[in-house]
Amino acid sequence: MAMLKASWFLVVPLLFLSASAISPKAVVKVTNNPADQLVAALNDNRTAHKSSSLYDNPGLACLALQYIKAYQGDCGAVEAKKPSESEFAETFAPNCGILASSLSPITGRLLGCQSKYVTPANAFSDILMENNKGLEILYDKNHTEVGAAASGSDGGGPYFWCVLFSNGKRNSSFAFEGGVAKISRPGCFSGANDECSGASNWPQPFSLWSLAATALMAGVYAFGL
Ligand SMILES: *[C@@H]1O[C@H](CO)[C@@H](O)[C@H](O)[C@H]1NC(C)=O
Ligand SMILES: *[C@@H]1O[C@H](CO)[C@@H](O)[C@H](O)[C@H]1NC(C)=O
Ligand SMILES: *[C@@H]1O[C@H](CO)[C@@H](O)[C@H](O)[C@H]1NC(C)=O
Repeated sequence: MAMLKASWFLVVPLLFLSASAISPKAVVKVTNNPADQLVAALNDNRTAHKSSSLYDNPGLACLALQYIKAYQGDCGAVEAKKPSESEFAETFAPNCGILASSLSPITGRLLGCQSKYVTPANAFSDILMENNKGLEILYDKNHTEVGAAASGSDGGGPYFWCVLFSNGKRNSSFAFEGGVAKISRPGCFSGANDECSGASNWPQPFSLWSLAATALMAGVYAFGL
């Protein structure tokens, strides 16, 4: 794979205090949703590596979709448009209807984008885990939960994949106001039992192979804490 950009950064930890907002958690199954499938691939890899399976938190996943939206579809700007820490509390959480009091520390971030659509399993192995830094973030023992998002851009590609990790408490962190996930389109996020393959800018399965022939551009960007 021709990688045009592969940059890795360290950032200062986000230190949000976790409070005691409680939200009901449904049993999460893998749905017809690329973000859920990305979490499944990620957790399969962690458990095969004898790491714990991470709880798929829809609130954290909604923030991951907001994180993607901050790039405004510009795959070449993974560095220039890196969201600042303050945007989690100031913009992403309110857009998702996440209670500010339930925000918890982000313990890792992975972001990748590419002009062609690949399956969630390939996005995991070929884009997000493209180098050792990605694996280091994946296996960090501090993570307790994860949230993933996937989104195309206007008219198709580039396709963005984002994974956020946290060490928050699964039953109280990143809680939606009213306890119900606020689904937004376009784009898909994990953990909400939301069927999402038909999102307007996401390719249907039958068209995947034709997309595979399109020109390749990729950006991989990750943050370890
Ligand atoms: C986890 O994923 C990485 C990157 O794709 C791969 O190299 C490794 O073999 C996988 N580990 C396990 C235990 O499946
Ligand atoms: C877990 O977090 C602490 C600080 O919060 C840090 O010092 C430590 O290195 C982290 N552990 C891992 C395995 O990253
Ligand atoms: C939330 O989890 C904590 C421990 O992780 C537990 O003590 C508490 O009872 C749980 N609360 C609910 C409402 O499930």
